[in-house]
Amino acid sequence: MAEEKITVKSFIKFKRRKEKIAILTAYDFFTARILDQIGMDAILVGDSANMVFYGSPNTLSIGMDQMIYHTKAVSSATKRALVIADMPFLSYQASIQQAIFNAGRFLKEGQASAVKIEGGLEMTDTIKRIIQVGIPVMGHIGLTPQSINRFGGYVVRGKSEEERDYLMESAKKLEQIGCFSILLESIPKNLAQQITESLGVPTIGIGAGAGCDGQVLVINDILGLFEDFKPKFVRRYADLEKEIRKACKRYLEDVKSGKFPSEEESY
Ligand code: KIV
Repeated sequence: MAEEKITVKSFIKFKRRKEKIAILTAYDFFTARILDQIGMDAILVGDSANMVFYGSPNTLSIGMDQMIYHTKAVSSATKRALVIADMPFLSYQASIQQAIFNAGRFLKEGQASAVKIEGGLEMTDTIKRIIQVGIPVMGHIGLTPQSINRFGGYVVRGKSEEERDYLMESAKKLEQIGCFSILLESIPKNLAQQITESLGVPTIGIGAGAGCDGQVLVINDILGLFEDFKPKFVRRYADLEKEIRKACKRYLEDVKSGKFPSEEESY
């Protein structure tokens, strides 16, 4: 594992040497420290926190202060990985001025090194200004969960020719205005591969197949800590919900029966 700090420039180097980029989400100090220590390239403080941390049905209602709170916790634990903070719904759409101010808060208060913003062609004026003031941006196109009400739910995007053209044009424009990478969510793998091959900056896929330059998943999904639904693209590496239930049930039983604490666990 390379020891040097990962920056947005490292992302371009990864792509040039065809090294896949691995990213997971995290929302707290302890988890971020584990990811950083095992060599994860980047940690995304996703607005998915609204679902997996706060139990909301979607990502829409999380606010700036909550996102900064989680970003600070993750940044405090992270020495090497790139910390990317997700800009929440309505923190960047109302005006460019507000978008710059809110993006800047993630660097000033959250100690993140970059932000992620959902949207393609329609968001490029805003994203360009944010990058110009010195805040690196990861684009996010395809299924954009902050727009589920517009698109009627969590549906795969890029199936029609019109959508494919829009996504390809958006990706190229996002690269042109200076995004250091582009997240592709829930789009056909062939389209993701075409976009990947046409860009100099890396693509990060989630539900976009193996042709992307890197992959991101929500940590609760891979650990089996979010059982409400499991998208097709999630691979589960553990069943922690089961383990937590088992351990906590044993503790509950031990307290009730007087088996805890023992003599050795007492002063
Ligand atoms: O909020 C999030 O977790 C995301 C996913 C695409 C990883 O944006």
